[in-house]
Amino acid sequence: MLGPGMTVLIVGAAGGLGFYAVQLATQAGARVIATGRATQFALLRGLGADAVIDHTAAEVAPQLLNLVQDGADVVIDLANAGPRLERSADAARTGGRLVSPLGGPSSFARGVQAIYAGTAPVPGRLDALAEQAARGALRIVIGATYDFADARQALIDLATRAQPGKGDHHLLTVPHVERTDMTARTSPLAMVMQAAPIESPAEETA
Ligand SMILES: NC(=O)c1ccc[n+]([C@@H]2O[C@H](COP(=O)([O-])OP(=O)(O)OC[C@H]3O[C@@H](n4cnc5c(N)ncnc54)[C@H](OP(=O)(O)O)[C@@H]3O)[C@@H](O)[C@H]2O)c1
Repeated sequence: MLGPGMTVLIVGAAGGLGFYAVQLATQAGARVIATGRATQFALLRGLGADAVIDHTAAEVAPQLLNLVQDGADVVIDLANAGPRLERSADAARTGGRLVSPLGGPSSFARGVQAIYAGTAPVPGRLDALAEQAARGALRIVIGATYDFADARQALIDLATRAQPGKGDHHLLTVPHVERTDMTARTSPLAMVMQAAPIESPAEETA
């Protein structure tokens, strides 16, 4: 769907999905305009964004229309639903497309058609993405790396987003577990749960 000569706006580009959307749209040859916070601009440009918009500074659609007078061919909105999604559709050109992982109306004003991608991957697509990542053609942004002993803190940071703007990916370095020991009791997940019983930070400080 995306290709050279097309402009795509990616709203929510500095998130778990957005990092990949920016890279894949760039690979397709599209001109990519990504939203994020000012502190994330360098990262977004590093992933391939041609231009960046601060979604915390002002409404995104007018900022996009300042850059691309006719609007984007495609708006991929990974952050909004309801009336805010409608405002994102204002950034698409007449007859353009709006893509969302969530849901909403099938079309918007000026003939903008909606595509709701859902969560079911196209068969074989995940394998192809994993292969790209393995050979370094798709960058995985790691927000933080923790030793296994710090699994509890890793889970708390993930739940409370202690590191905003770094995406969802937290890497836990897990000690080697012999395959014969992979019982329910000693599986990596069970080990994390034993090492890091989860309490909310509020409970912890009470
Ligand atoms: N991750 C998955 O595997 C997956 C799969 C299917 C569906 N989904 C759905 O897809 C959506 C995105 O997922 P995600 O994992 O990418 O989420 P995420 O990691 O939380 O990223 C969302 C990004 O959107 C930004 N954002 C929030 N409100 C915004 C706004 N009004 N305008 C512009 N940007 C805004 C956030 O920035 P700040 O908060 O820093 O401002 C953040 O960078 C979610 O609704 C999720 O439920 C996710």
